[in-house]
Amino acid sequence: MVDVILGLQWGDEGKGKIVDYFAANYDVVARFQGGPNAGHTLYVEDKKIVLHQIPSGVFHQGAVNLIGNGVVLDPVTLRRECETVAGFGVDLKKNLFISERTHIILPTHRALDKAAEISKGNEKIGSTLKGIGPAYMDKTGRNGLRVGDLLNKNFTTSYIKLRLKHQRLLDNYSFNEEISGWEEEFFDAIEFLKTLNIVNGEYFINDKIQQGKKVLAEGAQGSMLDIDFGTFPFVTSSNTISAGVCSGLGVAPQKIKEVIGVTKAYCTRVGSGPFPTELENETGEELRKTGNEFGATTGRPRRCGWLDLVALKYACMINGVTQVVMTKTDVLDAFDTLSICTSYKINKEETTQVPFQMTFSPIEPVYRQFKGWNTAITSATDFGGLPQEMKAYIEFINKSINTNVHYISNGPGRNQIIKVDK
Ligand code: GDP
Ligand code: IMO
Ligand code: MG
Repeated sequence: MVDVILGLQWGDEGKGKIVDYFAANYDVVARFQGGPNAGHTLYVEDKKIVLHQIPSGVFHQGAVNLIGNGVVLDPVTLRRECETVAGFGVDLKKNLFISERTHIILPTHRALDKAAEISKGNEKIGSTLKGIGPAYMDKTGRNGLRVGDLLNKNFTTSYIKLRLKHQRLLDNYSFNEEISGWEEEFFDAIEFLKTLNIVNGEYFINDKIQQGKKVLAEGAQGSMLDIDFGTFPFVTSSNTISAGVCSGLGVAPQKIKEVIGVTKAYCTRVGSGPFPTELENETGEELRKTGNEFGATTGRPRRCGWLDLVALKYACMINGVTQVVMTKTDVLDAFDTLSICTSYKINKEETTQVPFQMTFSPIEPVYRQFKGWNTAITSATDFGGLPQEMKAYIEFINKSINTNVHYISNGPGRNQIIKVDK
């Protein structure tokens, strides 16, 4: 049996914290897509940790962690992260496994990412520059190198061949930054990677399922950044939605049970692209300040705005969400009035559907106003203790998205989460 935790917005919904919270109930935690563009924050012994490649279940002794075939893996980031995690006494030899089918991010993928972004000028995606797009391009272009290839004696020859191909592309971009330092650390990290548990991920996970073990699949990014259903081309290069679990781990759709979608109580987006409810004013600034909305991977300020129910409902539909976790609810504590976008006005027509392209015509969000709760909720521990205004805010959301908020996160801490009474 497999449950999934994934983001319903543009990433950074708090997936890391929520996976860490739920991981105690699972035997396996597995990342199924994305790469070090992800930054998943969690707190262990009151210390803040940001994970980019390793699943967020790694601090639970009862669970093992799998980096699935759908992920793209940067060995340099992985090595650094392994050192941090090992510093907390985690034995990665025992609890981290990597699929041999996982594609490897090469130093030239990072260079190509940067070169492509520079060439786009004002139309840049706002990529994290971690080499994600080029690595997935080499996967679908059938050129990429996989973790299992490291064990082949021809690895270096294949690497050199691909590097030459990349060099020609870089020359086309007139990109001439020195990357030999990146290459040196890459080959060091490759040696480290070889010492980890490299497994056949699909048999690994299906054997566990067969044995009755519980698997938690951890998504990265968010549904509105999905390569097919997000705000293309301002998206990432993988399927971030629940369907990605099947192809990214090798599990059959019937094995998936709960799809737990994580949303903030408002919206953020980092990088470029459409964002109908964005607030480029004092209110947006207040959300950013109160929510400490700065990227966990790049440190960039996140764009902030009100909750967008059109996009949220769409994400619930595409993913088949069965439970919603609402995070950062405490960030709204001091607002007198709150707004929720219930429809879009495009060329004077009102719609509750996400359009094919959000940039063709300006989108005017239609809002419904709510009274704020004006109470600090960070120390609340049960649903009964939460303000009535918040319950009304959540009840309205439940009705609109045809599924229910099951948990409310009221702070970044491990235990700041409240189960909603039925
Ligand atoms: P992820 O990429 O989805 O894992 O999210 P990030 O870690 O990039 O960003 C979420 C940020 O919000 C992190 O700094 C978390 O520590 C923080 N966070 C998570 N849940 C809550 C919450 O309920 N309240 C507050 N105030 N912060 C939270
Ligand atoms: P987590 O898992 C928020 C955004 C980038 C950019 C676009 C493409 O922490 O939620 P890429 O590097 O994938 O080529 O960037 O996607 N992006 C994220 N935004 N959270 C993330 O991950 C993101 N990963 C990528 O800012 O707009
Ligand atoms: Mg993040």
